[in-house]
Formats: sequence, structure tokens, C-alpha cells
Amino acid sequence: MNKILHSRMSGIATYLPEKILTNDDLAKIVDTNNEWIVTRTGIERRHIAEDNEYTYDLATKSALKTLQAENISASDIDCIIVSTTTPKDKCPATAVKVQSLLGAKNAFAFDIQAACSGFVYGLSIADSFIKSGQAKNVLLIGAETMSKVTDWADRSTCVLFGDGAGSCIVSEAIDDEHKVIATKLYSDGNRYDQIVIHNSEKNNCRGHMTMSGSEVFKSAIRCMAESVNDILTENNMTIDDVDWIIPHQANARIIKSLCEQNNFPADKAIVSLQEHANTSSATIPMAIDCGIKSGKIKDGNMLLLTAMGAGLTWGSAIVKL
Ligand code: UT7
Repeated sequence: MNKILHSRMSGIATYLPEKILTNDDLAKIVDTNNEWIVTRTGIERRHIAEDNEYTYDLATKSALKTLQAENISASDIDCIIVSTTTPKDKCPATAVKVQSLLGAKNAFAFDIQAACSGFVYGLSIADSFIKSGQAKNVLLIGAETMSKVTDWADRSTCVLFGDGAGSCIVSEAIDDEHKVIATKLYSDGNRYDQIVIHNSEKNNCRGHMTMSGSEVFKSAIRCMAESVNDILTENNMTIDDVDWIIPHQANARIIKSLCEQNNFPADKAIVSLQEHANTSSATIPMAIDCGIKSGKIKDGNMLLLTAMGAGLTWGSAIVKL
């Protein structure tokens, strides 16, 4: 068997629930206002799943678009990885439900949990499966129904999150123009308490989140800057080699500071959080999809993905799309 040197990422797609919740809608639920949310976060609206619409539904709908974009059938998928913090049930995995809904009978399927860094973690795992020959077509999905673990009485967190899913295929690179160049992952469990989704029921949701907002804000900038600089250096690259930075979409001020502190041109960063808010592990594929649809990201562009989330977990990837 020939050694596979690189994987590639293709067929980026997203699915968003139909229901939209604007900042003005939120102002009717908690003591907040559009101006505060836009100024402090950049978020204008978010999509919210119906009560009977679950993470596996969003994941499956996004995956169907990926299969269509790649013109492959579900039976060609031999591995399904779903990154999610918000499964409908604790067990079994969201990925096996997606397998069943797609009819992907030849796949093995499992979930990973690395919070908002989940898509970058999933990409790293998928890349390793392809390089080791353990899989040929990995369906990688980041999917979340954050609304189901949001405490809708807590204005400090409920304005920040939304629901959505993003997906892609990771398979063997067939040329030098489309490939995953590198991935790099980190975590620090000493900062476990900075963001937690607790199991307890509160205010009619399936969990509730506590977050040290300003600590997480600073950690996000520091962690993403560290991993971006490490991965560029290790691959003998600079920001000039990168066409687009795809940062985790939590707060427009985090993205702005990340660029300012590292002398990255701000117009290289794709920002889509105004439309979707923070969809945790789905933000990166959703932002790539927005970049493609807006005509910014083009075939063969060099993308620098970077994310940070609860754990803390963080990481980056360099992808020639
Ligand atoms: O995906 C990774 C996870 N999350 C993140 O990356 C989020 C990181 N953190 C952040 O984005 C920001 O820290 C927040 C957006 C969460 C908060 O922004 P901030 O500028 O750090 O605000 P703050 O927490 O310092 O609060 C400032 C004020 C407070 O009032 P006082 O004490 O100054 O009177 C808050 O009570 O804003 C108040 N406040 C609000 N006011 C209106 C907090 N939330 C709201 C709200 N509407 N929704």
C-alpha cells in the first residue's frame, strides 16, 4: 500500500435551523439590548432549533449537503466523526444516529468532545485516519444545539450562542493544491472551571453554563495566538502565505485583538458571527462556507483555522482548500 502523505478537506456545507432570534427578540426575554450585544460581541442574530429538532438532525442535514457537493453516496463513507458538546442523549453517540439517518452502512462512527475546538480536533483525527490508511472518506461534522443548554435567564451567556452544523469530507489528497498541511492541538485542564456546562437542570434547559467571560476572552486571544504562531513557524510559513484566517466565531473583539496583537491584516479574517453567534464546534466550517459563498475564499486558497474552547482546549490547522 502506498503511503498517503496528505489528506484534503472538501465539500464544506452548513445547515442552520429556520428559526431566527434577533438581539431585539432577546431584549424581550432578559435585561439586554441590541446596542450592548453588537458593541461587545458583534453578534446580531442567531438560529435556534425547534424543541423537537436535535443536534443529529442538524448534523445529518449538513452532511447530506456535503455528500451532494462531493457527489458521493452515503455508502462511500467509511468513518463519521461528529464533534458536539450538545448531543440529544449522553449515549449513544450523535454520530451513530447520523450514520443511521444517512444510511452510511459501511462507516464506523463516534463523537468527540472538545467544545469550541472540536472541529479542529476532528480534522486532526480525520487527517490521521487518512494518513494511516484506516479510512478513505471521513465525514467530519461540527454540530450544536447550544440553545438547549442555554440558561435563558442569564443575560451574560444567553446572548452569545446559536445553533447550527457544518460538515466536510476528509479524504486522500490527490494533488498538491488541495491538502491539509498541518494540525496542532493543545489543552489545559487547570482552566476547567472557566467554561462549564453543568448537568443540572435549571430554568427549563438540559444543563446550564457558567463562564468567566473576561478570563475566557483573554485566554482565547492568548491561546489562539500561541497556536497560530507555533503552526506557522513549524511549517516555515508566515501570515503572508495565508489567504484567509478562519478563527472560532465567539466574539468580534476577540478576532480583532487576535489580528492586532499579531500584526495580522484584519481583512484576512473571515467573520460570520454576526449572522450565527457562537455555534461552538460548528463555527469554523460555517465560517468557511460563508467565505466561499461570499466569493472571498477560492479554490486552492491557503486557510489558517484556529479555535479555543472549554477545557480549555485549543488548536490550529493549515489547509489548502
Ligand atoms: O467559545 C468560547 C467561549 N466564549 C467566549 O469566547 C466568550 C469570551 N468572553 C466574551 O466574549 C466577553 O467577556 C463577554 C461578551 C461574555 C462579556 O463582555 P465584557 O465586555 O467582558 O462584559 P462584562 O462581562 O465585563 O460586563 C460588563 C457589563 C456588566 O455590567 P456592570 O457590572 O459593568 O454594571 C454586565 O453586568 O455588562 C453587563 N452585561 C450586560 N449588559 C447588557 C453582561 N451581559 C450583558 C448583556 N446585556 N447581555
